[in-house]
Amino acid sequence: MRTDDGRRGSASLAWRLCLAAAGMRRASALPSHAARYALGRDGRLAAPAGDTQPASIEWRPDSGWHALGAWQREARSLFDLYLPLCAARPHRPLAVAHLGQSIDGRIATEAGDSRYVNAHENLVHLHRMRALCDAVVVGAGTVAHDDPRLTTRLVSGEHPVRVVIDPQLRLARDARVFTEPESKTLLACDGTLADPARSPVDAGDTIALPAAADGGAGLDLRVLLAALHARGLRVVFVEGGGLTVSRFVAQGCVDRLQITVAPVIVGAGRAGLQLPGAAAMRDCARPPYRLHRMGSDVLWDFDLRASGSPWG
Ligand SMILES: NC(=O)c1ccc[n+]([C@@H]2O[C@H](COP(=O)([O-])OP(=O)(O)OC[C@H]3O[C@@H](n4cnc5c(N)ncnc54)[C@H](OP(=O)(O)O)[C@@H]3O)[C@@H](O)[C@H]2O)c1
Repeated sequence: MRTDDGRRGSASLAWRLCLAAAGMRRASALPSHAARYALGRDGRLAAPAGDTQPASIEWRPDSGWHALGAWQREARSLFDLYLPLCAARPHRPLAVAHLGQSIDGRIATEAGDSRYVNAHENLVHLHRMRALCDAVVVGAGTVAHDDPRLTTRLVSGEHPVRVVIDPQLRLARDARVFTEPESKTLLACDGTLADPARSPVDAGDTIALPAAADGGAGLDLRVLLAALHARGLRVVFVEGGGLTVSRFVAQGCVDRLQITVAPVIVGAGRAGLQLPGAAAMRDCARPPYRLHRMGSDVLWDFDLRASGSPWG
């Protein structure tokens, strides 16, 4: 299998050790080509031989990590994308959601085929996000259609704990998230309707959820994130599908929303984000974002906690 970590060398190791020394979590999952820069305990980055301008990173309490100085564009992009997750020790849950979609806003064909909307580089990104997060969450629709394993096969780094939202316990017990042993699977179900005794996972791994507060649709995802946080699962990656990510966003549970747009036209198909609309364009949300290239695709990394954001 192709990985992007084949060029792991001593510089890469030094960089990762520096991150580990700085107390950063899951640093081994970072990409090897970010290894040109070594991070010191003071937050300064040692510039690689030949670079004349120093670069550094800085923590700002209001807005997190910032890359300062003259960075190579690729290194800066990697730090912007991944460092906030390595540096995170959140006292409240931190959630990043991702959807990969066509230019006409589809995450799968009408029949549910989504392999693969995006370029290989974005698939590697997904595996890296899994490795950098404590838990990966998917909805029942994704497990039913894709039967994913939710592991980190394309990068180095630990597998996350898998979390499946299956309110009515409709999923088959032989789905790979329940049978393949690489990582633990937790199951979130409707606390009023589902019989936890029917759960395909142990009772202690079944999380019964109430309905969303304030009339929101579906189960209460704040309760889910709090339950995960209480288990030490603080940084959570919501990987799909469209309904699941939409409910996380609608309930104000997402810190960063990543949408990767591929140059493909699907036509009729499964929708990505589905949120209540505004009557006028001036009232539509325009959260701040950073752009990252993912091969032929473009990843939009939105900060949904920015001031002025409806989810801030
Ligand atoms: N391109 C991508 O990024 C991407 C990523 C993942 C999946 N996909 C594709 O997307 C499709 C599946 O997406 P989808 O939108 O149909 O389904 P989904 O989001 O995977 O699952 C939705 C279902 O999960 C349960 N659920 C999730 N959150 C809930 C909440 N807060 N409250 C109550 N129930 C909740 C419900 O199960 P019940 O229906 O049992 O009530 C809901 O219908 C597949 O075709 C898959 O291949 C694409």
